Amino acid sequence: MCGSEDGYVLTLDAGTTSVRAIVWDHEGNPRGSGQYGVTQFYPYPGWMEQDPEEIWHLQWRAAEDAISSAGIEKGRLVGIGITNQRETSVLWDARTGRPVYSAIVWQDRRTSSYTDMLKENPGELRERTGLIPDPYFSAPKVRWVLDNVPRARDLALLGDLRFGTIDSWLLWKLTGGRVHCTDHTNASRTMLFNVNRLQWDHDLLEVFGIPGSILPEVRPSSFTYGYTDESVTGVSIPVTGMIGDQQASLFGHTALSPGQVKNTYGTGSFVLVNTGNRPVVSRELVTTVAYSLEDHRAIYALEGSIFVSGAIVEWLIDGLGLFKGVGELVSQAEVVADNGGVYTVPAMAGLGAPYWDPHARGLIIGLTRGTTRAHIARSALESIAYQTEDVLRALSSSIRSRPSELRVDGGASGNDFLMQLQADISSVEVVRPGILETTSRGAAFIAGIAAGIWHLDELPRLYRVERRFQPRMDRSKREDLYRGWKEAVRRSMGWSG
Ligand code: G3P
Repeated sequence: MCGSEDGYVLTLDAGTTSVRAIVWDHEGNPRGSGQYGVTQFYPYPGWMEQDPEEIWHLQWRAAEDAISSAGIEKGRLVGIGITNQRETSVLWDARTGRPVYSAIVWQDRRTSSYTDMLKENPGELRERTGLIPDPYFSAPKVRWVLDNVPRARDLALLGDLRFGTIDSWLLWKLTGGRVHCTDHTNASRTMLFNVNRLQWDHDLLEVFGIPGSILPEVRPSSFTYGYTDESVTGVSIPVTGMIGDQQASLFGHTALSPGQVKNTYGTGSFVLVNTGNRPVVSRELVTTVAYSLEDHRAIYALEGSIFVSGAIVEWLIDGLGLFKGVGELVSQAEVVADNGGVYTVPAMAGLGAPYWDPHARGLIIGLTRGTTRAHIARSALESIAYQTEDVLRALSSSIRSRPSELRVDGGASGNDFLMQLQADISSVEVVRPGILETTSRGAAFIAGIAAGIWHLDELPRLYRVERRFQPRMDRSKREDLYRGWKEAVRRSMGWSG
């Protein structure tokens, strides 16, 4: 520890389904927290929107809850770290600070025709941005707003339109509209950012017809971005870190060495491997900035983004009403010895890595008269593990080595049955830390480094393992199951095309 033992870091974690805030002490332990659910809007099939003002108000309310439950004065906060659902795009009027349209969420598929055109020459896009043509990323969402919201175009012409991912939007609000910035990790998800040069790419801005004047300035993840406005937050607090949530999770796992891999089991699943100071390009995975410190050097990662994982469980419970809750679903899955030949492909938002098919749709296949709820429960949990295995295979061929350990976090990682299944399906040791709020913890570390609380080198000392799951399934069974999965995926692809 290099700084004051008195200082606390506040993290704002604006996720897809909820906004959370946590106060962290200098040992990296949570001292107080707050959380609120975010309203989701599905105006048309494949569309997904949120209210940026709601995100901001609930996020700061969660922060107030975290600070009061930690029992500290705001003046003892030495830094705020912002972490966020990435790609989700907000455009607002710089004069009023009001959004011109809803936030278009990363899972939204409305712009698939825009990115289908880019598929003709994906190589150049990949070389520049590290990304794959898909409506997942921000640029097509921004273009859609410019094309469909007349006020947005008008404001852009006047130089009064601002664009940001959720980190930028929160920073703007916190600083009373004084700071319009993002960090390298969030910029690397926009499809407008050159990941090699760490700069906005003017050719891509032209391709998408997006004026450069609306973009935030790009800074390192660990950096003093500015100070919160007293009229907004009570006292002025430095904002010392911003980082996309999946990169924050990698950092929170202290996966600081090349080859270290993590998976976060949330709404979707996101598998990231640290590739060091070299951007590794892959046909099936996304090259992304893992983090950057104040010396402006970037560390890179390869990422497999899985759009729907935990959300399949939610859908079976809340959407179909097939189970009363997660507990019942898991205990049903445990009742049966296997999936009975049933596979669920949760392609509700198309398929992300390694398939990248926005036209794929979900299916449950292999049903017979002997199929029970228990088989469906099991196949849903298995789909989470198979999708992770899909990415681990793609990742192993890109970095030319198979990871022996998978560090895990996110809501579903608390489930022992699923974690054992993952170890079995992937023949990998699954490592679960004691503190599962890895994303927020990573954002705290990033903000704490710029605030002078921690050095990078001492972070691995703060990582504690709670449990390791060893693979137990024999190889032929594993291969048989996985073959069935690949067949089911094949049938889900191209459905709405
Ligand atoms: O890329 C999308 C990702 O950042 C969303 O993460 O945890 O909000 O589902 P989460």
